[in-house]
Amino acid sequence: MKKCLIFCAFLAVACTGAKEPLYKDATADIEDRIEDLVGRMTVEEKILQLNQYTLGTNTIEQNIGELVSEVPAEIGSLIYFGDEAVVRNAMQKRAMEDSRLGIPIIFGHDVIHGYITIFPIPLAQACSWNPELTRLGCEVAAQEAYSCGIDWTFSPMVDVARDPRWGRVMEGYGEDVYTNSVFCQAAIKGYQGDDMSQENRIAACLKHFAGYAASEAGMDYVYTEVSDQTLWDTYLPPFEAGIKAGAATLMSGFHNLSATPVAANRFLITEVLKNRWGHDGYVVSDWGSIKQLINQGMVETEKEAAETAFNAGNEMDMADQVYANNLKALLDEGKISMKQIDDAVSRVLRVKFRLGLFENPYVEEKPESERYLLPHSLEIAEKAAAESMVLLKNENAVLPIEKAKTIALIGPMADDQDEHRGNWCGRGRGEDVISILQGMEKEYKGKARIVHAEGCGFEGEDRSGFAEAVRVARSADVVVACLGHEAGWSGENHSRSTLEIPQIQEDLLAALKATGKPVVVLTASGRPLEMREVDEHADAILHIWHPGTCAGYAVAGLLSGRYNPSGKLAMTFPYTAGQIPIYYNRRPKARNEGWFQGLYEDITNDPMYPFGYGLSYSKFEYGPMTVSADKVSADGKLYAEVTVKNVSDRDGMETVHWYINDPYSKITRPVKELKFFEKKLVKAGESETFRFEIDPKRDLGFVNSKGEKYLDKGEYRIMVGDQTVSINVI
Ligand code: GLC
Repeated sequence: MKKCLIFCAFLAVACTGAKEPLYKDATADIEDRIEDLVGRMTVEEKILQLNQYTLGTNTIEQNIGELVSEVPAEIGSLIYFGDEAVVRNAMQKRAMEDSRLGIPIIFGHDVIHGYITIFPIPLAQACSWNPELTRLGCEVAAQEAYSCGIDWTFSPMVDVARDPRWGRVMEGYGEDVYTNSVFCQAAIKGYQGDDMSQENRIAACLKHFAGYAASEAGMDYVYTEVSDQTLWDTYLPPFEAGIKAGAATLMSGFHNLSATPVAANRFLITEVLKNRWGHDGYVVSDWGSIKQLINQGMVETEKEAAETAFNAGNEMDMADQVYANNLKALLDEGKISMKQIDDAVSRVLRVKFRLGLFENPYVEEKPESERYLLPHSLEIAEKAAAESMVLLKNENAVLPIEKAKTIALIGPMADDQDEHRGNWCGRGRGEDVISILQGMEKEYKGKARIVHAEGCGFEGEDRSGFAEAVRVARSADVVVACLGHEAGWSGENHSRSTLEIPQIQEDLLAALKATGKPVVVLTASGRPLEMREVDEHADAILHIWHPGTCAGYAVAGLLSGRYNPSGKLAMTFPYTAGQIPIYYNRRPKARNEGWFQGLYEDITNDPMYPFGYGLSYSKFEYGPMTVSADKVSADGKLYAEVTVKNVSDRDGMETVHWYINDPYSKITRPVKELKFFEKKLVKAGESETFRFEIDPKRDLGFVNSKGEKYLDKGEYRIMVGDQTVSINVI
């Protein structure tokens, strides 16, 4: 019936030429517009919608780095490397005017933690325990990216990560399922808003679906051994949370998930994503991952790769043109169907319609000063950086630095700008970054003299700067050693076998300590570090991650006490890489007492700094936890409360982490599972009450290896701080 009506409408237009085709009618229902448009498309036009090439020049040699001038006007998507809208609008004009149907291109880019204004890396953002800052930061990123013509970001990455040897731990929100789920939803809200057709909104892309962070030995592009149980209880929940938050798209990955590479894993991208979760957007492959199915030994030819990935439910092919070169032949041979192609194209068009690209295909070309590094954006970036940094040690209250007359900044990070951007820093420019030296000079202007020496590089053997560094250190009241990893030492394809900072930096730190001055160590990185040697020489340690554009202001604010540190680790810092994998929510061991406990014989079994660890300049005391009832039915509700008192003379923010444990269950559960967190300001000398509203099915239930959620009756333990209270589900 519907097709007949549309055909009549079409005839009416054809005869009278009075009306635009239905798909161009912005008042029509999107599903009707999709049906009308798909009905008009040729096979070739449909197949091109399922392809993504690159446009613009970038520095990554394996990309198609030059302006791809021969891009067909009917291409579905382009990765855009420009930071001005002019090239993008010119290409869009070709799509809108030179093609038969005028289908807009969707332009994508990796806007991971900012576009020009750079925010802390996502792992650092998780340490702020302030998802609202992540939402605001993603909103800024969307505004800046949108202003240069990006419609779609390949973010948020929500790969739960437990192996810091893997370089991509910097891109996600740490080792915990619930944390990744909460920050994922905040990011999607920031990018997409409530209606992504609005100005300054862009489509989100959950990645990498799923289980990528389980990469063997912390390497990249490798096998990931993930049991069905772990897939459902650890790696899938953040993606499900993202789908519920309305994520427009997903990206599969490079990895081989338990012998079925995700680029062609039908169970994941059709059974789970489409059939069980009902996602109606589309999945894009990761860069060349369909072609890589050959390397992974799944198929022999590109044609088989196209067939396998397409039949698995992967709608769009990123960058390797395997779909462009093979889908038509596969259709002619009956190996894929027109119905499948129409469904895939409909999903791509649905996102484009929802983005409003048909009505607003172009972006206004405004001067940079109106688009980038706006005051509001920088304010959020500084706040996010300050709240993401984690105070790991503060002996004898050497911090904050309030009385020193001379402060020495020593080390490779002291006057650096580029490295603070972290990896995956969009189009962020080093010259926009506030260095630690710049931040300190501003912060202590008129209060203390700032002296500086680099001492050494990030790595290498050149110790010729040590003498000058020691001389400068001796001239100061306190030394701030600015050490750590370069931005490019984490991120994709940056696995490391150890988590140490280079020996030359450790040696510089030892030389500084030998001066007898108090030493504050700032460590920068995109991953947890091995801090044994740093700890030996440091009176205080502030882990700053890669904090982005406002690095120097945030660091200086924390060192001066203008900010009170509130960050807590969202990923365990191992004592040594030999402990990996080490994470907080492990399952209980078979033996916990006596000699036969299976512990390491040569090192401790405890991490250097555990998940959730972080110090403040304030001192918080937890009162007794109370629960509103000691039993609850599956559909009932109860709450737990704890009052936290700030017994110091300095206002501070405290994050209370609420955990649960199901001590006895046929599917054994972790020793503790984070289920809620809340961050509040607790004024000096005052108290705040924190409440965990428990929904038994949501917060106490679990999932089995088939993805079926369930709730056992019996004892559960609610945990906060060092307290545990038991309740019963009846
Ligand atoms: C990369 C990454 C992926 C990114 C894509 C586009 O290889 O794996 O996360 O979004 O290619 O740059």
